Amino acid sequence: MQAAVIAEPAAPDTESWPFTLEPVTPAIGAEISDIALAQAGDADIRAIRRALLKHKVLFFRDQDITAAQHVALARKFGELEIHPMIGHHPDHPELVVFGRDGQARGRENVWHSDVSWREVPSMGSILRCVTCPKVGGDTMWVNMVAAYEALPDAVKARIANLQAVHDAMPAFGRGLPPERRKAMRDQYPPVTHPVVRTHPETGEKILFVNEGFTTHLANFAEFELYRVGSDFRMAEMDLLAYLYRQASAPEYQVRLKWQPNTIAFWDNRSTQHYAVSDYFPAVRHMERATIIGDRPV
Ligand code: SIN
Repeated sequence: MQAAVIAEPAAPDTESWPFTLEPVTPAIGAEISDIALAQAGDADIRAIRRALLKHKVLFFRDQDITAAQHVALARKFGELEIHPMIGHHPDHPELVVFGRDGQARGRENVWHSDVSWREVPSMGSILRCVTCPKVGGDTMWVNMVAAYEALPDAVKARIANLQAVHDAMPAFGRGLPPERRKAMRDQYPPVTHPVVRTHPETGEKILFVNEGFTTHLANFAEFELYRVGSDFRMAEMDLLAYLYRQASAPEYQVRLKWQPNTIAFWDNRSTQHYAVSDYFPAVRHMERATIIGDRPV
């Protein structure tokens, strides 16, 4: 039997950082320590931005910050959005609250990119654990640049000019009275984004469809190939299901076990996430600030 050795990662992080940075997997995620986010200066913020582009989701432990400090930190990365459908912190509408207890199960257990149903979805989110279960309630992220890159060339060619429709209603319209559902539909109609978007800062190509909000493809049909108007539907849904499935490859994923005052900051353009809903009836209380991004192209 051979002695166990720890091999070096394929591409060790050799950049210099004003904090300690440890990659968590080769594909995605880095844990950052030796920094107090509430006191982060301009050089720290620039380095965090750089680390975010490189590792796509960053984890910070033991950040005992107030809600106001959380909002102020997120503002250093851009303008913040106010989510129209999820409850807010009582004093800070910019903080979405995910509060779960013995009354409600977590519902964010589907791969998604936040607010992809907006014309301008978010650039990133900063999520803090206020209270979390001792066991369970982890969050997972997946690198959708890696998912795109691994696609066969024929699939890349097939999806290159496709557009997909993203809609908030399936997730947020459920259970609403009809008049509120109609008001929501009028205010937030479905939007169309490219299936493959280009990252506005890195130029990377990203597979940008997600099971949470992408409902169908807008321009899949090549009508001359079909007999009647709905012939293409099965092939369309097969392709979409195949594209959703790319988020489920463990090789592109990272999983975070939360502790109180752990913060995760993710690039919402190049990742999707999934909040594991395995902790009912334990309490899990999370607060999220969401930074407005660019219109996908
Ligand atoms: C979210 O979908 O942004 C919530 C993630 C989580 O609660 O872990």
